Amino acid sequence: MTSTDWFTHDRFGMFVHWGLYALPARHEWVMSREQRDVGDYARYADVFDPDLFDPRDWARRAREAGMRYAVLTTKHHDGFCLWDSDLTDYTSVNTPFGRDIVAEWVEAIRAEGLRVGFYHSLLDWHHPDFTIDGHHPLRDREDREELNAGRDMARYREYLRGQVTELLTRYGTVDYLFFDFSYRDDDQHEVPIWNGKGADDWAAEDLLALVRELQPGIIVNDRLDVAGDFVTPEQYQPDRQPERDGVPVLWEACQTLNGSWGYDRDNRDVKSADLLVRMLVDSVSKNGNLLLNVGPTGRGELDPVARDALDRVGGWMARNERSVRGAGAAEFVAPPDARYTRRGDRLYLHLFSWPFEHVHLPGLAGRVSYAQLLHDASEIRMTVIEPWVRPLTTGLPGQAEGTLTLTLPVVRPDEIVPVVELFLSS
Ligand code: GLC
Repeated sequence: MTSTDWFTHDRFGMFVHWGLYALPARHEWVMSREQRDVGDYARYADVFDPDLFDPRDWARRAREAGMRYAVLTTKHHDGFCLWDSDLTDYTSVNTPFGRDIVAEWVEAIRAEGLRVGFYHSLLDWHHPDFTIDGHHPLRDREDREELNAGRDMARYREYLRGQVTELLTRYGTVDYLFFDFSYRDDDQHEVPIWNGKGADDWAAEDLLALVRELQPGIIVNDRLDVAGDFVTPEQYQPDRQPERDGVPVLWEACQTLNGSWGYDRDNRDVKSADLLVRMLVDSVSKNGNLLLNVGPTGRGELDPVARDALDRVGGWMARNERSVRGAGAAEFVAPPDARYTRRGDRLYLHLFSWPFEHVHLPGLAGRVSYAQLLHDASEIRMTVIEPWVRPLTTGLPGQAEGTLTLTLPVVRPDEIVPVVELFLSS
């Protein structure tokens, strides 16, 4: 396997956003949104004590949901580190909890046979050398220019390098790295970001070279502001496989359960399991992955909303896995409100809405030797209605040349997304 094969094969991973922001429980950007300074925000570290932290439980639930890799926020924008860094005291070890979360999490993830991914924030609102920009909590301070005068991004770059080195040398093989994020002044933003940051601020090429040297098999996203191995559209399902200079690129949609990445207690904007499965299928139908996020609570548990979503998606995956795992885009045009995926000689028709009895598949006449519903292996009968044949009581013929027609049961199977498996003949 080359280093990206597992990624395009596995298709489905778990994102975990966890840190001090689980305590205020109102979005992981709370420090910036509420413009809290370091002294004020760091008080959460004094009470951080997730006594119910059980990474084995998270890992098991991920595997049972059909996920095959997991990605943890080693540090988010607030700068709080979940491992025992030598380069700062602002870590989970220096809280009442007192433990190296990354170490315990990595072990649990591997024990479930999942691949290990790290998320690492390029932004750092805690570090004294990280300059105040349009996202920074101190952005509206009148003395921000003076505050910035003493800040030195060169020193911050050293810190970033040092921390990345720790993460990539202390925890064995790391399969995946998600840097977050670059925001140049010249980008199109609804609200312009002044004093943006990009490749130069991170010394991106050097940092990427270091990453590849320390972990030769790793795959890295593109948010360093230089092309990496894959792109990560966020809270957005693109209409096709993304391309760079006309060449399709590996991609992964990262998606939340409710619009927030960190635990967000009062947020009720919850996606249904039905929608989540459709998003997974939609990604795979465009040769992409889905990285689905959970935000554990300040006690260290997955909340009931996350558990329920994972259970339900896992129920679907238990029976329909082979339409997404190891599958990718198909060359055929799917009928309305449906998605195709293909895996070798099998074509999978995912019916997002359930039609009455017949579904017409353009271009597939003579191409399919057998059809069945995937969840119960019950045969689906197929016909090719010649173009000159008139359906009941109409004076006009009803079918385009080359169309294959499937006859479905009237009652929609009780599956989140029913799938028809079509055996392609060569
Ligand atoms: C972002 C956000 C963030 C989240 C992430 C996930 O750009 O700043 O809070 O961690 O992307 O994709």
